[in-house]
Amino acid sequence: VDHLLGIKYLKPEDIQLIFETADHFKEVINRPIKKVPSLRDITIANLFFENSTRTRLSFELAEKRLSADVVNFSAASSSVKKGETLIDTVNNILSMKVDMVVMRHPNPGAGVFLSKHVDAKIVNAGDGAHEHPTQALLDSYSIRERLGEVAGKKVVIVGDILHSRVALSNIFALQLQGAEVMVCGPKTLLPKYIQQLGVKVETNLIKALEWCDVANMLRVQNERMEISYFPSTREYTQQFGLTKKIVDSLNKEIVIMHPGPINRGVEITSDVADSEQAIILDQVENGVAVRMAVIYLLASKIKR
Ligand code: CP
Repeated sequence: VDHLLGIKYLKPEDIQLIFETADHFKEVINRPIKKVPSLRDITIANLFFENSTRTRLSFELAEKRLSADVVNFSAASSSVKKGETLIDTVNNILSMKVDMVVMRHPNPGAGVFLSKHVDAKIVNAGDGAHEHPTQALLDSYSIRERLGEVAGKKVVIVGDILHSRVALSNIFALQLQGAEVMVCGPKTLLPKYIQQLGVKVETNLIKALEWCDVANMLRVQNERMEISYFPSTREYTQQFGLTKKIVDSLNKEIVIMHPGPINRGVEITSDVADSEQAIILDQVENGVAVRMAVIYLLASKIKR
């Protein structure tokens, strides 16, 4: 593949190669000198048209650890506010000799659109409620790290599936690697097409947790809702919030994940999020190595 636009464009062997490359970079970033000179002839622009903490910092660190030159752009403080279009914005940045663009954008398909109109490698850092491929890659990498492999594992994604790019990319990534996937949430927050994705569907949190090896707890994305959905936050927490009491009631130890940002006390309580069973900060740590791998592999396709 020439770009990373979504997990749906990848094959199992692509994921395998990314993980093996990430294994190498994970070892590198744990050395006293965390940098390699691999991309010192490459310039990367990080374009964020939507807010981000983890993804933006993780990409920037990954690029710097590979010795790329990095420029950062945030729409909120740019000439987008004066009406400049996406294509004009990107073409102006590319005319400064940029080789790769990492972009987060509120519109689904923004990365695909860009890849057809500009001459640079494109990495999708989240496009609306569509895909967040590097999040799904780092999630699977973290499952592989904790449980040895992803194949055969039972993973439930809990919460606002309807508005979640993390859910869709995780479903594709987990299925490509031979995991079984279930989604669990209120009916109002499950997309109508969910059955067509080949996942199990459950609306009872306890039953979902009894089935799974791994639970990935998602945030309710109120910012993507035009109207207020049932249930209310309080009802949501009562029915789908993961508490220590629930975790302790299971007759097995499950792995608990969250892509962040966490709404503590809503989808997960602090004692669960901060427990040994939770790998939430491992996911963040692995994000740097996985993004180094993605960028390194894409950069190898740039004519230099
Ligand atoms: N997980 C994730 O995408 O977090 P940010 O929105 O902070 O980048």
